[in-house]
Amino acid sequence: MVTVRAPATSANLGSGFDVFGVALSRPADVLRVERAERTTIEVTGVGSEYIPEDPGKNTVGAVAEALDAPAHIRIEKGVRPSSGLGSSAASAAGAALALARLYDRNRTRRDLIPVAAEGEAVVSGEPHADNVTPALLGGFTVASDRVTDVGATVPLVVCLPEIAVSTRDARRVVPESTSMDDLVHTVGRAATLAVGMCRSDPALVGAGMEERVVTPRRARLITGYDGVREAALGAGATGVTVSGAGPAVLAACPDPCRRDVAGAMVDAFADAGVEARAYQTRIGRGATVYGD
Ligand code: HSE
Repeated sequence: MVTVRAPATSANLGSGFDVFGVALSRPADVLRVERAERTTIEVTGVGSEYIPEDPGKNTVGAVAEALDAPAHIRIEKGVRPSSGLGSSAASAAGAALALARLYDRNRTRRDLIPVAAEGEAVVSGEPHADNVTPALLGGFTVASDRVTDVGATVPLVVCLPEIAVSTRDARRVVPESTSMDDLVHTVGRAATLAVGMCRSDPALVGAGMEERVVTPRRARLITGYDGVREAALGAGATGVTVSGAGPAVLAACPDPCRRDVAGAMVDAFADAGVEARAYQTRIGRGATVYGD
């Protein structure tokens, strides 16, 4: 049996839509995987009641099929589905890693990125690798033609409200095209963020998160977003954005402000009538095989 801890991830980081991602030190899924004649799936933990156990409809079933590696896969969800924290990516990346080990498939973590991305497409409608890449590699990742990663350590807060936003719905509000002005603005922010990651500098990372093409449209799907953003900035956050497709809200901040930022975000959601919990987290490792 192989046991893997697969981390939550936050994609986009504002200016890097479908490209940037980070692995979060918490929360995480735990997968226990054993060889079997045919694939069966058992899901427990946060939000497990919303996750199909039918291998044809589950992200890890698609991964097992792609690797021709049937298995009994038990998933203990720590990452809530429809949260914006890469829930399906955590399971897909964890399963890909576990199955490649179990069946001695000669694949590196980078080789497993497209396999896990296909698995994730089962839930989100189309394959995109910005969550599975950090879930496998850890750190800050750029999921482009040429995948790159940096082991940055930036303190983060993610605040998860008790509302659900489906990735399919959140992708529908993204505009199909944008102006040259907005493109130039976004490139500037993305470059600032990437430099900030290379320096593990929360001020630059926060500044680079703010963009004006995708986030404002998605923010409308999250009750209380504007108040939460202002509260986080007021408590010392250097930048705020929607985590992935939402509804989680991500803030970068210097270490000493994390607790205040977390409290301010939860209180601001409460002011909007929404219950929420905050994770004080940071950029962390990719999926870990226990015993490695
Ligand atoms: N980049 C994706 C999106 C991440 O924002 O739609 C969500 O899975």
